[in-house]
Amino acid sequence: MEIIKVKDSDELGKKAAEIVAAKIKEQNESILGLATGSTPEKMYANLIEDYNAGDLSFSNTTTFNLDEYAGLASDHPNSYRYYMDHNLFNHIDIEKQKTYIPNGTANDLEAECTHFEELIKQTGTIDLQLIGLGLNGHIGFNEPGTSFDERTHVVRLKQSTRAVNARFFPSLNDVPKLALTMGIATILEAKQILFLVQGEHKADILKKVVHGDVTEDVPASVLQTHPNVILLTDIDI
Ligand code: GLP
Repeated sequence: MEIIKVKDSDELGKKAAEIVAAKIKEQNESILGLATGSTPEKMYANLIEDYNAGDLSFSNTTTFNLDEYAGLASDHPNSYRYYMDHNLFNHIDIEKQKTYIPNGTANDLEAECTHFEELIKQTGTIDLQLIGLGLNGHIGFNEPGTSFDERTHVVRLKQSTRAVNARFFPSLNDVPKLALTMGIATILEAKQILFLVQGEHKADILKKVVHGDVTEDVPASVLQTHPNVILLTDIDI
């Protein structure tokens, strides 16, 4: 794992955007894996700036998002589709039909997961996958205890994850109990992973992820086994 230390969230957003932009420029038809949460917000803002400055085009880019809440429609302000539309897609020249996010309102969620996996397979290998870190060590919505062999699947969210994410919702009760997430086996197939971790509150878990055992109890620890991971963080580890 290559570790790049940054001084704060501004620098993290800038560096992360540079890495993503370089990938898009280097490869004509790039496939990106995207993540949500507060950590990548500044990166998306920087990518929009690059686009507005005429330095970057997403017209040949396809994206696959890591995860989505079950039961939230695309126009629900807490859905990850809404997040992606508002934080990136609506402001750049990407073709919306090439931005894939699991559909949280599908009638058959399991079938939706299988369909999402199929779409990735048909499109090709993800060139660069962005990943954030949950406070309990989750990546995407792969909660502690998830098998490393899982592909895209439906997950029951831990109470602790619902509590952490409740800050984005009117109340804890409004946070969905189920979600759809790319599995760890799917994530590990990406050619390169850009792992973004910001804030002292994640210091303890990040140390376990980077220096601890590779264990399903700490899902992100599996990143130690991937040959091409860049960790961008403002934490001393
Ligand atoms: C959510 C998402 C994850 C994300 C995590 C961290 O649980 N499902 O994909 O990485 O939150 O988010 P934040 O960056 O807001 O700490």
